Amino acid sequence: MTQPVPPDPSTIEAAGALLRAGRLVAFPTETVYGLGADATQDEAVRRVYAAKGRPAHNPLIVHLPDLAAAEPLVHLDERARLLAAAFWPGPLTLVLPARPGNGISVHATAGLMTLAIRVPVHPVAQALLRAAGRPVVAPSANPSGRVSPTRAAHVQDDLGPAVALVLDGGECPVGLESTVLDLSRPDRAALLRPGGLPREAIEAVLGPLVGPGGDPARPAAPGMLASHYAPAAPVRLDAKSVAPREALLAFGTDVPPGALATFNLSPSGDLAEAAANLFAMLRAADRAGADRIAVVPIPGAGLAEAIRDRLRRSAAPRS
Ligand code: TXA
Ligand code: MG
Repeated sequence: MTQPVPPDPSTIEAAGALLRAGRLVAFPTETVYGLGADATQDEAVRRVYAAKGRPAHNPLIVHLPDLAAAEPLVHLDERARLLAAAFWPGPLTLVLPARPGNGISVHATAGLMTLAIRVPVHPVAQALLRAAGRPVVAPSANPSGRVSPTRAAHVQDDLGPAVALVLDGGECPVGLESTVLDLSRPDRAALLRPGGLPREAIEAVLGPLVGPGGDPARPAAPGMLASHYAPAAPVRLDAKSVAPREALLAFGTDVPPGALATFNLSPSGDLAEAAANLFAMLRAADRAGADRIAVVPIPGAGLAEAIRDRLRRSAAPRS
């Protein structure tokens, strides 16, 4: 099993060459670690699905170094350009009409006429995308349905043997996946996945968004199912007290006593800190040997919407 390597000009060059050779490279982004592959090679993209055990109907996000690299791949309308100017590079993914013959593997889009694109801000992701010189698909580097990785060691533990190289960029600063916004229809902008860029920031540019509302069991994006981000132990939400043999995810100063182990997402009640800690603490709570993980309510707007979304999915009945 390969060990994660520190990113420097030579390891990043090597990682870019591995991608061009059709191999899988895990790399840090500001949101979570991604499992990267050359988006233009069918066989490389198929390897991503195989490594994750991901259903073939769940399309992938194509990662690019800048807006200019998106021009040949998708049709960018005025809304997309406004959002790109405001938030790229950063944790925002746009779903746009694909340009026919754009060279992206059909496996990446699961046969859809749309393409999800994202320009990450993390310097290692930026350097790798430039070194690869190709569009790079990168789902979160975890087995399908499990907790996303925010440290190189998480990737190593979960997917080690399948990955040619893991670039170790330390902790992911945002800690939640990108916000996915569907702009494929001119008449509405739909929030498919709340994420690292708060809804309010997008609405300040575009006005009100639709979704994701209603039944969480009905996928908002293809493949976005109710159960996801699942630790091995069951999760109990909105806990006001703790039962014996429960581990606790707390937030703020009001911490119910009696847990087997307590992990405080943010003692000061800071949502950005809680987001950055969420997945690592879910993993740690899972390792505490508890029968169940209890989670206190996470109130509020902004990043709280995405935190609650991930917690709801981690607690959803497993299929
Ligand atoms: O922050 C992120 O976005 C991370 C890092 C690595 O960049 N990547 C990530 O990828 O979270 P993944 O594969 O775990 O999630 C991609 C989401 C899925 O819910 C998928 O269904 C949706 O984006 N998606 C991809 N292409 C789509 C499309 N054409 N239409 C609608 N949804 C799409
Ligand atoms: Mg994922």
